[in-house]
Amino acid sequence: TTTSHFSHVESISKLSAAGKISGVNAVVLGEALASEEDELVFPNDEFSRQALVPSPKKYLEMYKRSVEDPAGFWSDIASQFYWKQKWGRPVFSENFDVRKGNVKIEWFKGGITNICYNCLDRNVESGNADKIAIYWEPNDPGSQDSLTYFQLLQRVCQLANYLKDKGVKKGDAVVIYLPMIMELPIAMLACARIGAVHSVVFAGFSAESLAQRIVDCKPKVVLTCNAVKRGSKVITLKEIVDAALVESAKSGILVDLCLTYENKSAMKRESTKWREGRDVWWQDVVPKYPTTCEVEWVDAEDPLFLLYTSGSTGKPKGVLHTTGGYMVYTATTFKYAFDYKPSDIYWCTADCGWITGHSYVTYGPLLNGATIVVFEGAPNYPDSGRCWDIVDKFKVTIFYTAPTLVRSLMRDGDEYVTRYPRKSLRVLGSVGEPINPSAWRWFFNVVGGSRCPISDTWWQTETGGFMITPLPGAWPQKPGSATFPFFGVQPVIVDEKGAEIEGECSGYLCVKSSWPGAFRTLYGDHERYETTYFKPFPGYYFSGDGCRRDKDGYYWLTGRVDDVINVSGHRIGTAEVESALVSHPQCAEAAVVGIEHEVKGQGIYAFVTLVDGVPYSDELRKSLIHKVRNQIGAFAAPDKVHWAPGLPKTRSGKIMRRILRKIASRQLNELGDTSTLADPNVVEQLIALADR
Ligand code: PRX
Repeated sequence: TTTSHFSHVESISKLSAAGKISGVNAVVLGEALASEEDELVFPNDEFSRQALVPSPKKYLEMYKRSVEDPAGFWSDIASQFYWKQKWGRPVFSENFDVRKGNVKIEWFKGGITNICYNCLDRNVESGNADKIAIYWEPNDPGSQDSLTYFQLLQRVCQLANYLKDKGVKKGDAVVIYLPMIMELPIAMLACARIGAVHSVVFAGFSAESLAQRIVDCKPKVVLTCNAVKRGSKVITLKEIVDAALVESAKSGILVDLCLTYENKSAMKRESTKWREGRDVWWQDVVPKYPTTCEVEWVDAEDPLFLLYTSGSTGKPKGVLHTTGGYMVYTATTFKYAFDYKPSDIYWCTADCGWITGHSYVTYGPLLNGATIVVFEGAPNYPDSGRCWDIVDKFKVTIFYTAPTLVRSLMRDGDEYVTRYPRKSLRVLGSVGEPINPSAWRWFFNVVGGSRCPISDTWWQTETGGFMITPLPGAWPQKPGSATFPFFGVQPVIVDEKGAEIEGECSGYLCVKSSWPGAFRTLYGDHERYETTYFKPFPGYYFSGDGCRRDKDGYYWLTGRVDDVINVSGHRIGTAEVESALVSHPQCAEAAVVGIEHEVKGQGIYAFVTLVDGVPYSDELRKSLIHKVRNQIGAFAAPDKVHWAPGLPKTRSGKIMRRILRKIASRQLNELGDTSTLADPNVVEQLIALADR
């Protein structure tokens, strides 16, 4: 039955019937309230009147249809795209229940299409040829670049032709290791055009992490650039790729083409280390190719991309998304969650190396024919006003970012914001981690001038697109709550035993039944896919997040319940950090936990046991941190290293992380029962060493 999924709908209707939604312009903020769950921020009438979903009633209608008749709801939307051949019947099929056999999800199977065609050719042909597709803002202020839809199509075709010429075929993997220059979305689209499967690796990952991903997906080609400037630093990406290719060759994976873009503002080609025969300058070859390229038509269920993400074991998971469902889902979620209109200028600060940059820098917006801003640099360079300078420069109307950036700018002071008028802004968005109510209010009041709704979008690499999100203008918001499910999404909260809990409750967040943007497998490891996501609570997809539903049906995400931590919106497995630490010759054992961090949301706290006889020193601490930077990337560097001559373990040898978390957060009177430890004395010892 689906009745429980409508409880939130009833509650919005009640609030609305009480006259609280329509006709109230005042924003209720900062009043004394019994709890944060009582704080309601009402959309203003003017915004609601023009919104795509102007009222709870409209949402209700659409939501009901989407869960009662998913096939009809999604086919109607899918028909707005170009399909070389229409999908067959059924529109979707799924087995979500491991007890009934292998988990399998298919949407629009038999439909033949191409997502690049739908992003570019379709828009060019429908009168948007001269509309700006991408505004590009470099690291150093003062200049800019842009491409119209027609120009973008031409650039994509040239690269697609080059790749084809080099033997890249449908189904082949291509690794992209690029910073936020226009060539990054160009590269993704070019792969999609020829049916190649892109795997973008965030250009903050180390050579070792890159090598690990190369070994897993065995790309035909690696696309990179020589260097990038971020703030005042120059990062020589090509050297990282060189090292990664040496490393992957050791596992027998040889990549014989490395197409390298010369990013002149960061480094001239003369200074770039080069391997003749393998390395090719992008600018020397790609522009010579024709500016038109026939599309490779693919099945809706053919793979579009692989994106590696962290789990609770050391090995990253290759999340696989396919074409048709992902296309329909990212386009639709983008449109409704940001109340997108063709006149909008949209800026998402995420890097294309993460899922947000796939779904909401590249595919979702371009499918809608939107104008996007791509920013190469750092948001606090040359100073903390940079974002608002860019907003004013391009007249950005929709600004989508992460809570960590909001908190860091908030700390730097309002003056950096108020110095700029920011008149163009009309919708704000937040993603990556829970946004705390005080950061929400600052974002709303100071950045958005108390007039822009905030879409706090909850979703994951695995979900492909938004799952729980406000629809701007449709209903009142509560600072810190992602509010209600998107169309077609049926969230459920379950208890330890996997039983659904109704009404006001807390528990594990799961999803019942599939949605078009869902990932279809973990590359090369369908068993791990089932074990991680479908076995913990049979019958459901398990998100790994904890969640609370309040008395009004609003959802409040409370963070990961597994061994994954979320640092500045970056997902990091504690096991990955631990394995980097123990690869240091002087480290015998490591245990990593997350701690609360004012700006990053969570910080990394590492307990380390050294090899017998090795003394702990400041130098060793630095070299341990260095090891993690080298093995994973700078973003995973521990904030604190705690020397642990012994770790609290049960008699069977299991590390008791619960105790470590309490010690890390200095909640020393909440250690709980330590009597089951093999050696209870280690706790005292750890406390004594806490500030060394
Ligand atoms: O814990 C949730 C958190 O980020 C995790 C997903 O991380 P990743 O796959 O890297 O994707 C990040 C961008 C979608 C989730 O399991 N998370 C993401 N968005 C939110 C969030 N937590 C609370 N509120 C959000 N809006």
